[in-house]
Amino acid sequence: MSSPALKAIAALARPELKSVFTADPNRLSKFTMTQGPLRFDWSKTHLTSDILDGFLKLAGDMDFAKWRDALFAGEPINNSEGRAAEHPAERGEGNAQSVSRAKMLHARMRALIDAIEGEALGSIRHILHIGIGGSALGPDLIIDALGGDGARYDVAIVSNVDGTALERAISRFDPEATLIAVASKTFTTTETMLNAASAINWLVEAGVDDPYGKVIALTANPEKAIEWGIDETRILPFSETVGGRYSLWSSIGFPAALALGWDAFESLLEGAAAMDRHFRLSAPAQNAPLIAAFVDQYYTRVMGCQTRALFAYDERLRLLPSYLQQLEMESNGKSVTRDGQPVDGPTAPITWGGVGTDAQHAVFQLLHQGTILTPVEFVASIEPGHALDPAHHRALLVNCFAQGAALMRGKDNADDPARAYPGNRPSTTILLDDVTPDALGALIAFYEHRTFANAVLMGINPFDQFGVELGKEIAKSIEAEGTKGFDPSTMALIDLALGA
Ligand code: F6P
Repeated sequence: MSSPALKAIAALARPELKSVFTADPNRLSKFTMTQGPLRFDWSKTHLTSDILDGFLKLAGDMDFAKWRDALFAGEPINNSEGRAAEHPAERGEGNAQSVSRAKMLHARMRALIDAIEGEALGSIRHILHIGIGGSALGPDLIIDALGGDGARYDVAIVSNVDGTALERAISRFDPEATLIAVASKTFTTTETMLNAASAINWLVEAGVDDPYGKVIALTANPEKAIEWGIDETRILPFSETVGGRYSLWSSIGFPAALALGWDAFESLLEGAAAMDRHFRLSAPAQNAPLIAAFVDQYYTRVMGCQTRALFAYDERLRLLPSYLQQLEMESNGKSVTRDGQPVDGPTAPITWGGVGTDAQHAVFQLLHQGTILTPVEFVASIEPGHALDPAHHRALLVNCFAQGAALMRGKDNADDPARAYPGNRPSTTILLDDVTPDALGALIAFYEHRTFANAVLMGINPFDQFGVELGKEIAKSIEAEGTKGFDPSTMALIDLALGA
């Protein structure tokens, strides 16, 4: 670690978590922040006021304010690809020209949704959304979280190239009543194009009239979609400057806007926009995503934690951990700075997690007594997502908060070390008022900005993802040229499974 600010932070005293609240009676109010529907509590971490000051110094050294301004101004901060990162513009925040283009494209999406609702494409009951990575994870999370039983269409999101995924989805759909949304920023992704072709074949084989007339494209590459056979009137473009893993706010959110209704989609955008304004306008010491990044940086770069775990204590948010895996790991899992220099320490930790209370009965043993220190994040909602006996929600939340207290406190057992808990294990808690569209929008934008802030503090570009390319290239070369020249293991596996 060569950053003087980080070295200074590492030299600061690290308190025992058990005593942090007695050492500072005002700790809870100092280390908790409410922003709209979201309360972020980082009081059960090892951060102290001195450590916080150290990170504020690091943020200054790394020109945090300058990079944040550049993000919202639509400057080409994705330097390796020479473009801006304009997901906030989709929510109405940022460069005026980009905001007005996003508004125009949203109006186009809305008009198509109105037409579909008016049965211009026939009587649609099922939506088959085909996309992968950022073109699937966002819509999946939103529909799963907010759809409940109230979703107006039966939606299946198919991402995997494994035909089992598509087969399972279409087995429950009536081809006559199915709309296919092909979601791909590039419109060249192998998995998506293969799944889309098979889905259209399914319509053809079922004798559906004008199968291509039931296909919508959600893409930043409309020319490719036209080439592929989709009529221009059913192409919903979005800007090249919206990154794949930041794209749910654009036309990639189409199935969510259709299934949940336009008002819900708009509230989602508004919730995110409120978080954008908070992030853009708040001073560093009052900036929730930045403070959350300080916590991340402390555990990863100062304490050497290689993972961070996130548990959603709300069934509605069960897809949040996998959504965040792409957001955080694809953005910040890098080894070079934005200038191409080797980084001077670890970058993104491995994000993993699950759902409470299930995870308590599966993986929490390691969190409480294992040898690997893992900062944990709990995400919960004050309001339940169901109308059953309130005892359910009470038990859920009591368990969530008990876990954070147990990790912090631990428990001695001089007689039996197997039954002792070391404690001193950190956690943060995000408590939402409810899982509503605006709260979910704010939560996702909070994580986006936190990821960006982490990148700025490390001097890396979070908006490219070249690490995913090599495997794709090799797969293509095997398809085109066979396995000649490959290592014996790869050749043997291919021969055995696929034939020479
Ligand atoms: O391979 C990684 C990736 O490029 C992701 O960044 C992206 O979200 C996903 O593939 C899908 O890409 P596309 O939307 O272009 O099909």
